[in-house]
Amino acid sequence: MKTFSPIQKALLHILQDGNCHSGNALGEQLNVSRTAIWKQINQLIDMGLPLKSHDKQGYQLIKPLILLDEDTLHKQLNDKGFPHEAGLHLFMSIDSTNSYLKALPANNRVEICCAEMQTQGRGRFGREWFSPLGENIYCSSRWRVNCDLSRLSGLSLVVSLAILETLKQFHRADSVKIKWPNDLIWNEKKLCGILIEIIAESNSNAMVIIGIGLNVNSDTLQHPLPDRSWCSLYEMTQSHHDRNQLISQLQVHLAHYVSKFIEQGFEAFKEQWQEHDYLENKAITVQQPAGSLKGIAKGVNQNGELILMDEKGFYHELSIGETSLSRSVKK
Ligand code: BTN
Repeated sequence: MKTFSPIQKALLHILQDGNCHSGNALGEQLNVSRTAIWKQINQLIDMGLPLKSHDKQGYQLIKPLILLDEDTLHKQLNDKGFPHEAGLHLFMSIDSTNSYLKALPANNRVEICCAEMQTQGRGRFGREWFSPLGENIYCSSRWRVNCDLSRLSGLSLVVSLAILETLKQFHRADSVKIKWPNDLIWNEKKLCGILIEIIAESNSNAMVIIGIGLNVNSDTLQHPLPDRSWCSLYEMTQSHHDRNQLISQLQVHLAHYVSKFIEQGFEAFKEQWQEHDYLENKAITVQQPAGSLKGIAKGVNQNGELILMDEKGFYHELSIGETSLSRSVKK
């Protein structure tokens, strides 16, 4: 677990204007020597920040960068009416924001952990989540819930709706789809992944950790991933976005969606979810622990389980599995 040192934060704050600043000028502003500035800049470059040093002229950020900031986030959560007491945990680098909240002693607050990068970001099915420094959102929040634990699988679908609500300002209502259970897809590419973990305390009490990996400012076209196609808000909108604004808005939507889910269950969201169903009526394969199943996706039931019609016309209701499009089954 690492945080930026005060001098690194101050340096990045000055460089945020995108201009070139000489080592002398920076040293004077921060009351340290030019050599100290040079050392700090090299450390920041080694961490992966998009900084360039121009011979004799100084240092410059070559991509816009607005760091996550605790005071800003607290203020925005307050201004936007976040309805709970929240604990904020911000890191420059961490293994995984989900793992951090899992290990944090239980309490009654909503706990929110965000990081500029993750060294062991976790995806579903034990996969790795690519988490480069300062580009995207790696954010987990922990909620104490009181509901029958068997109903909680529907929550993972509801979280994708809360994220869609947050993204409404950036995209046409129908351009982002949800691949069951909760991947957000734009232009056939993955924009956001969600990892939900449950710490059960009794049959009807649990702490739920909602981990969100939302690709915000990565230039995904310049950096294709070997195992999957991904996209970002930057690619969707051709502009960079302030992650503080997005995180605070997202947590406010999450608070409303989580509490409506606890009161009314998935049924209250089923219609809304189906409006964004990426797989509807498509031939798909579902990988499950016991093997794979092929068929046509037929939406979800009142618990958020995937309805699959197999090749013989039998209907299955699936609560876990990894879905992908397949071409071998006729509609
Ligand atoms: C998926 O496989 O689609 C889920 C990806 C979830 C990634 C997020 S990033 C923040 C949180 N911390 C983690 O280690 N994983 C989740």
